[in-house]
Amino acid sequence: MSASGASLLEKIQSRTARTGVVGLGYVGLPLAVELAKAGFRTTGIDLDTRKVQAIGEGRSYIPDVRTSDVLELHRAGRLDATTDFAVVEDLDTINICVPTPLRKTKDPDMSYIVSAVEAIAQHLHTGMLIILESTTYPGTTDEVVQPLLEATGLKAGVDFFLAFSPERVDPGNPTFQTHNVPKVVGGLTPMCSQLAGALYGSAIETIVPVSSTRVAEMVKLLENTFRAVNIGLVNELALMCDRMNIDVWEVVDAARTKPFGFMAFYPGPGLGGHCIPIDPFYLSWKAKQSGFDPRFIELAGHINGNMPHYVVEKVADALNTRRKAINGANILIAGVAYKRDIDDMRESPALDIMGLLHAKGAHVSYADPYVPEVHGREWAGGVDLQAVDLTRGSIGQYDCVVIATEHKAFDYAALVAEAELIVDTRNAIKESHPHVFKLGAPKPDTQGARIAVT
Ligand SMILES: NC(=O)c1ccc[n+]([C@@H]2O[C@H](COP(=O)([O-])OP(=O)(O)OC[C@H]3O[C@@H](n4cnc5c(N)ncnc54)[C@H](O)[C@@H]3O)[C@@H](O)[C@H]2O)c1
Repeated sequence: MSASGASLLEKIQSRTARTGVVGLGYVGLPLAVELAKAGFRTTGIDLDTRKVQAIGEGRSYIPDVRTSDVLELHRAGRLDATTDFAVVEDLDTINICVPTPLRKTKDPDMSYIVSAVEAIAQHLHTGMLIILESTTYPGTTDEVVQPLLEATGLKAGVDFFLAFSPERVDPGNPTFQTHNVPKVVGGLTPMCSQLAGALYGSAIETIVPVSSTRVAEMVKLLENTFRAVNIGLVNELALMCDRMNIDVWEVVDAARTKPFGFMAFYPGPGLGGHCIPIDPFYLSWKAKQSGFDPRFIELAGHINGNMPHYVVEKVADALNTRRKAINGANILIAGVAYKRDIDDMRESPALDIMGLLHAKGAHVSYADPYVPEVHGREWAGGVDLQAVDLTRGSIGQYDCVVIATEHKAFDYAALVAEAELIVDTRNAIKESHPHVFKLGAPKPDTQGARIAVT
């Protein structure tokens, strides 16, 4: 082991290493808190002054991170934040947790990683450990990050250490959080792996070493592609069941009783969030560069991407039973976050559904206890919307309510009792009712429905 590697290892083991996290979002803040809890003096670096200010005030802005933890760690001098990369001079380790979105062309947008690494490079010094955590295509660490850092004249694996470790955080999951989700770690060299493993091992229960940064990068893309493809499969099954008058929800629930060889995935209005709709395209982009055509990814993307259109068809079918059209209808979207009980709207299919309904002439409103406002730039309707309250007495004013996200806070009994029509894309309403249309299930028996006969 080189002298600088041995010295860093000793600092990590004794918790005297100064740790840093670049990008204090859904991934970075929980990690910074875990490192600080493990005993490291940890500094977050983010360009967003509001986040830096919040940490300075001892306040959390991520639902999975308790404000009491941030406050206690900040007061103890173990957690602070800055917008100034000059602090890198004082740091021994850095975890990079910046966004990796897609461009409109579905190509990877590496600009956040590049700008963060360039800023780090200006202050890189001997003996540092840099770990990339942002989800990205295999080859990013050695093809993009390494050359940018080596442009300083320092050599990776010798003067500084470099690794990739994918983040697996599941926002809103009360059981599995940063500290107890096994951490896959792949270093550029064995020493890079050892140092990264030691750092994570001080804050995270289980470390899973792999042989290279590329394997570690690919692990994450396998995990998310697995989900995208299986969701694509069950969404296709839902469309099939709709055509064949079979309830897909009942099918999946019965299939999941098999104790081996089956894993339940559920259909829905489309993919949402920062990972599943995006990450597989990082992989397909890179695979195509090697002359490989990744057909599963493209097919699943196609099926999942069409689900909002299918939901709009369901809305049209439901309104049709009332002799109404989407054009001119008052439609309420219940839930715009991309999944239950969280506030994250990124890539949410609810926004697509709202845009499609708006384009057909509907008056669109939404309710979401976690999302007070949807800005005009966030959906195709182009106007700012404020969340409405789903209170008894107010639900009947809508021609149709679309349950896009099944937040626990919604009063489903009130919805069933008062809504004129419901399109349920999440199986939030278990019993059948004549005015509840479920995604991937037979049409309700409309004989008993309140059909307006003129
Ligand atoms: N959110 C998840 O559930 C999740 C799960 C697993 C992996 N990931 C991956 O982790 C990465 C981060 O995701 P996230 O959800 O935390 O994103 P986020 O948008 O919540 O946070 C990213 C943060 O990085 C900051 N930032 C952007 N450019 C910067 C720069 N040059 N320097 C400093 N800060 C900068 C932003 O201001 C923001 O606060 C992505 O690659 C994502 O795919 C996310």
